[in-house]
Amino acid sequence: MAPQTNIPQTMKAWVAFGSGRLRDVLQLKTDWPTPAPPKAGEILVKVSYVAINPGDPKMIAHSIPFRKVAIAGMDFVGEVVQVGQLSPTSATGIRTGMIVAGTVPMTSILRGVGSLAEYLVVPAHIVVEKPNGVEECVAAGLFGIVGQTSIVMLRTANLREGDRVLLNGASGGVGCILTQMLHGIGVHVTGICSSRNMDLVRRLGAEEVVDYTAHDDLYGHLTSLATSTGCRPFDAIFDCVGNDTLYYRSPGYLKIDGKYHSIVHGPLGFIAEFKFNHWPVLLGGIPRTYSSVFSNPSGSSALEVVNWFEKGCIKEVPIDSVFEIDDALKAFEALASQRTVGKIVIRVKQEAREHVA
Ligand SMILES: NC(=O)c1ccc[n+]([C@@H]2O[C@H](COP(=O)([O-])OP(=O)(O)OC[C@H]3O[C@@H](n4cnc5c(N)ncnc54)[C@H](OP(=O)(O)O)[C@@H]3O)[C@@H](O)[C@H]2O)c1
Repeated sequence: MAPQTNIPQTMKAWVAFGSGRLRDVLQLKTDWPTPAPPKAGEILVKVSYVAINPGDPKMIAHSIPFRKVAIAGMDFVGEVVQVGQLSPTSATGIRTGMIVAGTVPMTSILRGVGSLAEYLVVPAHIVVEKPNGVEECVAAGLFGIVGQTSIVMLRTANLREGDRVLLNGASGGVGCILTQMLHGIGVHVTGICSSRNMDLVRRLGAEEVVDYTAHDDLYGHLTSLATSTGCRPFDAIFDCVGNDTLYYRSPGYLKIDGKYHSIVHGPLGFIAEFKFNHWPVLLGGIPRTYSSVFSNPSGSSALEVVNWFEKGCIKEVPIDSVFEIDDALKAFEALASQRTVGKIVIRVKQEAREHVA
């Protein structure tokens, strides 16, 4: 397909001027310069939808050396409208007209690149072609950070069929995908969520669901689940919420050689790992391994998510809500409530229309 030539000189984009809270620094610009044509190995994407993540505000909150302005957002789906010169050995197969999804890589984020704009330039190797049978608004979430992080967590935990896993935050963006992948490899999942999400988490594949609002002593309840007749402690715990007490009390319900995996610390997770793993038991340390998981977005992780989807292991990606691009601040407020079920998505391309039930 011929490269699109009618690309406007300016575009709509949510731009952060400096660092801080989104509501203080983020502005909707309607005349922001469209990115320069893609260089070798890059593509220009006309964005349809952006899925937002709790990590998005964190990327704007912290000041990054030499970065004065930054476009918000990381996950996206959209149409490839220009392809930079590809090297003869390039095997990405990306061409104009293709609908692709992915996540802006950390190296681009550090330079102020973000997805919450009508056009975006990214390296061609970080995207995947959207498979048939998945709507664009769903693809924005699934093949972005939550899908890719679930892949990294599975790799890190190295589980086997029949293992027992406790998943805290099973109804959130990551939890909804991870529950289905764990179920897909035959792991017995106990999901933690509030009462309103119990049916969803069961439907996604959890054999057992614990309503954290229904127990005065949640940790005592988990201990009884792991020690009562016919039960056994968990082989691994995934924490997608950031509940330190769940870790402190884990000797009651996590096997002695089991691992506690947390995703909430981002790139500085090694500090939490050091703190939790090296404090001797005599001084109050916990005799269980703490592992901090950070997923650096990549095309290969996105491709693995596509494979899981095509194998039929990911059947449902709940879309919590869809906001228009002009209402992005409201979308981020909804995300900050920590009550998101699945994904919050922002429609960037006006003609795009989702058909989510
Ligand atoms: N390390 C990485 O690479 C990486 C990647 C992705 C995400 N993360 C981090 O992982 C965390 C989760 O991300 P996400 O996208 O899944 O978040 P999210 O979608 O915003 O999570 C919202 C969910 O959390 C649940 N929740 C809130 N409080 C809870 C509690 N006390 N106990 C159990 N569940 C609770 C809510 O369920 P109820 O309404 O039922 O309470 C809701 O469904 C964030 O901190 C994010 O920054 C890290």
